[in-house]
Amino acid sequence: MIKTVGLSKRFGELTAVDGLDIEINEGDIFGFIGPNGAGKTTTIKMLATLVRPTDGYAEVCGYNVIKHVDDVKRVIGYMPDFFGVYDDMKVWEYLDFFAMAYKIDPGRRPRIIDDVLELTDLMVKKNDYVEALSRGMKQRLCLAKTLVHDPKVLLLDEPASGLDPRARIEMRELLSELRRMGKTILISSHILTELSDFCNTIGIIEQGKLLVSGPVEEIMKQLHGARVIEIKVKSDADGAAAALEGHELVERVELEGETIRAYVDFDLEDTSPLMEHLVSSGVRVSSFAELEVDLEDIFMRITKGAVQ
Ligand SMILES: Nc1ncnc2c1ncn2[C@@H]1O[C@H](COP(=O)(O)OP(=O)(O)OP(=O)(O)O)[C@@H](O)[C@H]1O
Ligand SMILES: [Mg+2]
Repeated sequence: MIKTVGLSKRFGELTAVDGLDIEINEGDIFGFIGPNGAGKTTTIKMLATLVRPTDGYAEVCGYNVIKHVDDVKRVIGYMPDFFGVYDDMKVWEYLDFFAMAYKIDPGRRPRIIDDVLELTDLMVKKNDYVEALSRGMKQRLCLAKTLVHDPKVLLLDEPASGLDPRARIEMRELLSELRRMGKTILISSHILTELSDFCNTIGIIEQGKLLVSGPVEEIMKQLHGARVIEIKVKSDADGAAAALEGHELVERVELEGETIRAYVDFDLEDTSPLMEHLVSSGVRVSSFAELEVDLEDIFMRITKGAVQ
């Protein structure tokens, strides 16, 4: 649905986006992660046909972003990082305005407006003025606006920035709903917890360069090569570590105080034999759990060193 080859953008001396190769398939939720100034917004704007690439190639749904601007605009819903709302306009008028811009038949517009208001939970605000909405509501309205023409691909530039925790969760639920509807979504953020559990693929960008991209699972595997089980014991951690070291499923053991980390093969599904082994070796286990490897961890590992 989205493909870029060597996509680049220079602003004078500065290379904001540097030879990006990205591929996003239908139904993917691609988390586009990077620190401030990494080039996320510039990339998204190029995909949305708003910034002309200096070099390279990009297509959305098979349409070239330079040659087929109108086709690209038809298939994308773009939510910018900063967006204006117009004064003296009611919520439904705002949506009607965009529906009109997308040349949607006047007869079909009321129904579509109700649908997107329902989806974004803004029906009660239908007749309110846009400027009177709270920030979170404006954000949802902006998302509603990107949906009026039923785009296949959503380009969302930090849709949850500036929202309180509750509004963030609501935004996440809304995005999950869009995912269930089969949309392909590219979502940028530098708040990693916002994207974990939600994206199936990610790309990490820093100083205009894509450091890594692909399915979250694969990236974790690449980085870790192993799953980590964290075990806490009541006593004799040394004995427990020794018992684990001899086990065929365990690749490596680390001991830190009363906490033991056992590294097992990434593809190992069932870790219960290890627990049984410990118990039958007389170890008094107080906790046994797999360490969650989250996006934060991946991000810190990958961007380490390159940040200077
Ligand atoms: N119109 C422009 N003219 C000159 N430089 C620009 C322009 N737009 C962006 N840049 C520069 O390009 C680089 C990338 O900016 P971009 O906005 O794409 O980063 P970002 O990853 O979206 O950052 P943030 O997380 O802060 O939103 C920055 O150094 C920025 O100053
Ligand atoms: Mg940005």
